[in-house]
Amino acid sequence: MTDPLTPYGNRPMVTPIVNAVNYEYQSFEVLRQITDGEIDGYTYHRDDNPTVRAVEDRIAVLEKAEDCIVCTSGMAACTLIYLTYLKAGDHLILFRDIYGAHYKVAVILERLGVKITWLDSDDAAHLERHVRDETAMIFLETPTNPLCKTLDIGLARQAADRVGALLVVDNTFATPWHQLPLDLGAHLVVHSATKALGGHNDLMAGAIAGSKEDYDRLWFTRQALGTTLDAYSASLLERGLKTFELRADTMAANALAVATWLHEQPGISRLRYPGLPDDPDHALACRQMRNGFGGLMAFDVGRDQEDAKRFISALQRVVHAVSLGATESLICIPHLTTMLYLPPEQRATFGVAANTVRFSLGIDPVDTVIADLEQALAVV
Ligand SMILES: Cc1ncc(COP(=O)(O)O)c(C=O)c1O
Repeated sequence: MTDPLTPYGNRPMVTPIVNAVNYEYQSFEVLRQITDGEIDGYTYHRDDNPTVRAVEDRIAVLEKAEDCIVCTSGMAACTLIYLTYLKAGDHLILFRDIYGAHYKVAVILERLGVKITWLDSDDAAHLERHVRDETAMIFLETPTNPLCKTLDIGLARQAADRVGALLVVDNTFATPWHQLPLDLGAHLVVHSATKALGGHNDLMAGAIAGSKEDYDRLWFTRQALGTTLDAYSASLLERGLKTFELRADTMAANALAVATWLHEQPGISRLRYPGLPDDPDHALACRQMRNGFGGLMAFDVGRDQEDAKRFISALQRVVHAVSLGATESLICIPHLTTMLYLPPEQRATFGVAANTVRFSLGIDPVDTVIADLEQALAVV
């Protein structure tokens, strides 16, 4: 059988886009060997695809994991995890400061009989008080979306171990360049690969890194649900990963410079960036992160949402859009975007104000970004 990854004898520098849905069986014997797992091979795209598998290998290396599975989006990855490891009667711990779509998935999980406790970031230091015998999973983001707070992965693992729960860490904000959750105690790492791993606002993907056993369990669910990534997106993701470390490094350097500058500006309050020495989580971030502190920050602009809107409308280089971790610097108001689904009174409970903005630094020259922020702040 021709290996689709080495069709020319030598391995191409770019993994070929294998756009086949199905594969011609070479013989009944080869089919048997593939289905019995004796040899690697492909039969149907929903099961597996060589372009997808190549990108999984790359992300596993980045996260220092035994294996990785990718799927159609970050939320598809989170949902694969929930549906693989939770059943009716299980208890799931989530934090309120989390990407907004989890509130929707929570509705579905509760309908299926999963009991959910929502915690504040401050509770992370006392997680053991909240775990119980039925706790099957603790799921956290660090830094959190949108407030960029840092949660202690090691402490969460200790709490999870008390009851044999699974600890899942969303590493989208930090990226593997800055944080390796598996080394810090997580059982699984999940990514919106739509963000910094892809990095160019041109693909949606999710990734889960963990053990080979986890790969097999998650593969079963992905195959059943049909959330296998398409080969074109996998190829774009592979291309993005080639510059991932360079981009992540630049974004973090830009973010530190911008946060340091914003810190001194009137009209900006409650600035959260884990790399600032006076950020309440700075010491923890220094222990948990490396190579800098990532490209995201959150802060309040002026007195109310009208001030935040005026500021964003005046920006000329920074782009007003959702998403993050891309080459462009992106800014948005969580109340009007990622948290839209939540009732207003609930949005306020964990500290995201109507004038809070989430800012994701890109790889633009930082002086031009600061100049843009400066002229926009003058409007407020
Ligand atoms: C931290 C985090 N996790 C997960 C997701 C979901 O990813 P996707 O939009 O690829 O489904 C997002 C999206 O913004 C996110 O910010």
